[in-house]
Amino acid sequence: MKGIILAGGTGTRLHPITRAVSKQLLPIYDKPMIYYPLSTLMLSGLREILLITTPHDQDAFGRLLGDGSQLGIEISYVVQERPNGLAEALILGEKFLDGDKCALILGDNLFYGPGLGTHLQQNTDVKGALIFAYQVSDPSAYGVVEFDKSGKVLSIEEKPNEPKSRYAVPGIYFYDERASDFARQLTPSARGELEITALNNLYLERGELRAEILSRATTWLDTGTHESLYEAGGLIRTLQARNAMRIGDVEQIARDLGWI
Ligand code: TTP
Repeated sequence: MKGIILAGGTGTRLHPITRAVSKQLLPIYDKPMIYYPLSTLMLSGLREILLITTPHDQDAFGRLLGDGSQLGIEISYVVQERPNGLAEALILGEKFLDGDKCALILGDNLFYGPGLGTHLQQNTDVKGALIFAYQVSDPSAYGVVEFDKSGKVLSIEEKPNEPKSRYAVPGIYFYDERASDFARQLTPSARGELEITALNNLYLERGELRAEILSRATTWLDTGTHESLYEAGGLIRTLQARNAMRIGDVEQIARDLGWI
């Protein structure tokens, strides 16, 4: 399995900050935001990573992360000319994937929790597609997934008024070798984007979409608003100070994994 991080987008909710700087380069306490999704992929055991950026931000990411060799991984870059949607990543990444399975993660999603890496690693040999299910108090604010006891997904609904479950779909998705082909079959939604939910629905229609519950010990944060960005920084600061451990420290993770 290879990893793709989506670090494009316009970040309108963080204007005016993101008029000049990519959202994913903003600090979450003591590290750039991109370190957190990158660390999640590394903890999943993935060493070949593609970073999708806007045309004007690519150089900055290159200065930050280079080719990844300092972390014992391989980072490559591809430009997304316009924010045409999350599922476009699978088309832009087709050459990079070269027929392999793929983990797609959103550049503004932060995951943290004991056992998270092991849990993700156990699922990298995915058949069909796998999404994750995270219990939230206000499901209507998210994509909501309904699934049966075996984990087979029955429905996904975007911000439903009457959610069919309490489980939101966080921004990490595992796909088998067909994801790029399926993404090519999509047409833009009403808002002009290739929607990740539309891609997931193609797997769902075939009965090949599964959901794994993310343990309640896991923290999942989307850091795309001023409020959530501020909160995430505070949380990382508190956890690191109290527990004397680092979160999202890609260099330490690379060392722990024996990659450098
Ligand atoms: P969003 O938060 O949905 O979009 P955004 O980052 O443009 O922000 P806003 O809604 O405030 O305008 O995107 C989720 C993640 O996916 C984020 O890390 C940016 C990335 N992204 C892309 O890389 N390409 C895209 O086409 C889109 C829509 C998002």
